[in-house]
Amino acid sequence: MASIGIFYGSSTGNTEAAANIIQSRLEKADVKNIAGISSMDELTKYDLLILGSSTWGLGDLQDDWEVQINNLKKLDLSGKKVAFFGTGDQASYPDTFVDAMGILYDAAAETNASLIGAWPVDGYEHTESLAVRNGKFVGLALDEDNQADLTGERITGWVELIKKN
Ligand SMILES: Cc1cc2nc3c(=O)[nH]c(=O)nc-3n(C[C@H](O)[C@H](O)[C@H](O)COP(=O)(O)O)c2cc1C
Repeated sequence: MASIGIFYGSSTGNTEAAANIIQSRLEKADVKNIAGISSMDELTKYDLLILGSSTWGLGDLQDDWEVQINNLKKLDLSGKKVAFFGTGDQASYPDTFVDAMGILYDAAAETNASLIGAWPVDGYEHTESLAVRNGKFVGLALDEDNQADLTGERITGWVELIKKN
């Protein structure tokens, strides 16, 4: 079975909580805070990587990811799959909703990995997002500030999707 590593950056706990729910929907996966890893080489141990970040400032990566983003770009993830999730606030930040997920996606695109897990924009109220490409989010968008009640079912649906990839 493919080994799965979930790596998240979280400033107030929302992305951490989402990472733990994603883990609970998988048979077996490690979940790690990106702030606590000794080297980004840890990511290369897994067949499937699930990378999550909240968005801060106006469309910025979460701080702990900011520290590691250039190291992510340098990894060789040939033959591996990478999926993304992001937390944001579409009501307060409709023009930069979950932008950090788009930043992670662009970094991972430099690693030769296969990028999976695009998610429909239906049901969200944002106007712009760096995480939307060709009319879909590049991964799972979550909004704990406005749509927390949808998080559980969104995660369930998305995990089923990435299991099929
Ligand atoms: C000062 C501030 C700036 C934020 N900027 C954005 C933003 O640009 N885009 C967005 O989608 N969410 C933004 N958010 C919302 C957070 O991403 C959201 O609350 C998220 O769930 C936090 O996750 P965390 O606790 O894992 O860090 C911002 C929140 C704060 C307080």
